[in-house]
Amino acid sequence: MKQLNVGLVGYKFMGKAHSNAYRSVPLFFPDLPAMPVMKAICGRDQVGVEQAAAQFGWESTETDFGALIARDDIDIIDIGTPNNVHCEQVIQAAEAGKQIACEKPIGMTVAEARGMVDAVTKAGVKHTVWFNYRRVPAVALIKQMIDEGKLGQIYHFRGTYLQDWIVDPDFPLVWRLRDEIAGSGAHGDLAAHLIDLARYLVGEFDEVVGMDKTFIKERPLELEATGLSGTASSQKGEVTVDDAMLFLTHFKNGAVGSFEATRFATGRKNYNRIEINGSKGSLAWCFEDMNQVQFFSKEDDARHQGFRTILATESDHPYVGAYWPPGHIIGYEHTFINQVRDFVTAVANDTEIAPDMVDGLRCQEVLEAVTTSCRERSWIKIPG
Ligand SMILES: NC(=O)c1ccc[n+]([C@@H]2O[C@H](COP(=O)([O-])OP(=O)(O)OC[C@H]3O[C@@H](n4cnc5c(N)ncnc54)[C@H](O)[C@@H]3O)[C@@H](O)[C@H]2O)c1
Repeated sequence: MKQLNVGLVGYKFMGKAHSNAYRSVPLFFPDLPAMPVMKAICGRDQVGVEQAAAQFGWESTETDFGALIARDDIDIIDIGTPNNVHCEQVIQAAEAGKQIACEKPIGMTVAEARGMVDAVTKAGVKHTVWFNYRRVPAVALIKQMIDEGKLGQIYHFRGTYLQDWIVDPDFPLVWRLRDEIAGSGAHGDLAAHLIDLARYLVGEFDEVVGMDKTFIKERPLELEATGLSGTASSQKGEVTVDDAMLFLTHFKNGAVGSFEATRFATGRKNYNRIEINGSKGSLAWCFEDMNQVQFFSKEDDARHQGFRTILATESDHPYVGAYWPPGHIIGYEHTFINQVRDFVTAVANDTEIAPDMVDGLRCQEVLEAVTTSCRERSWIKIPG
């Protein structure tokens, strides 16, 4: 069988999620057209990257990204680093002719994102962005139902992405709270996923208006951190990103949308919830119950109308046939496995893959327009 050798950069939260996906994909999708091989993992710290390689199952390590992309035994470069290095890493990987999977948000600015799209287009490589919530079976089912016309004309998209991991003012100043590394706060981290889901399920944005808030302006500097946790030092530094972001949109197709992203929703852990209301019905989904879809249909007998719960675990629901018998639910990690399956298939068969770097750019345009709107306190048109 054909092999596709993967080189991954970044070995903490997303590094682990992506590693698990490459490891697990052949178990669940044995009919893959090519087998991903976990060839090399890259990080700046020799000891840390060697530990990660041993734990996750990578064949070799690199401590220099340039050395990773110079290797001719690597086909795919997977980027799981913080947002401020995505642009240079994607452009370098594209120039080296590698296929690319990049974490979201793809860059810090629209200008960066445009440069990334230009580079992958010029190089003619395949590219995908880890907007992995598209690959929750329940969300993919919602997409099918909308495309089948179950909602009729769409009026509303309502997205809330709520977490609470920094509500403690003594939580340290990790990279996600520093503008020069993250580019924005809850906005690029959480609203980026909502924006992608809104584009996927409803359509393109026309204009936006937003408001942001930073509740805690100073925090202890970090001693050590990974993903959404860290330890604090006794010195303090300034928080330079939003803690919460709210915005409204007009979509080009006439629908309207509201969005709320925050890390200060006490008690909410990964409450990524969407609701879509149309002329014939409504659909709702929340990640904290990720296998369930709520569906209301005006086409039901009026005496029986009400929201019904669909458990998206039947074998004919998207992706689900690869896993367990009905009712044996799946989790967060499966969204990454599903995306690896689709990306590897696209690379091996030279077929389309979405979301790609252009979707990443469209998301960045909305992110940046909302930020401009907050600054200028006015509606901002989305380019294009
Ligand atoms: N798709 C999702 O659901 C999802 C979830 C979490 C994070 N993310 C995204 O994934 C990316 C990484 O987030 P994370 O939570 O894994 O962060 P993390 O802090 O857990 O891990 C980041 C890794 O990148 C490494 N790194 C940092 N700067 C580097 C550099 N210049 N060169 C090489 N390595 C470098 C760190 O050492 C670490 O191994 C971010 O863009 C984030 O927005 C996406």
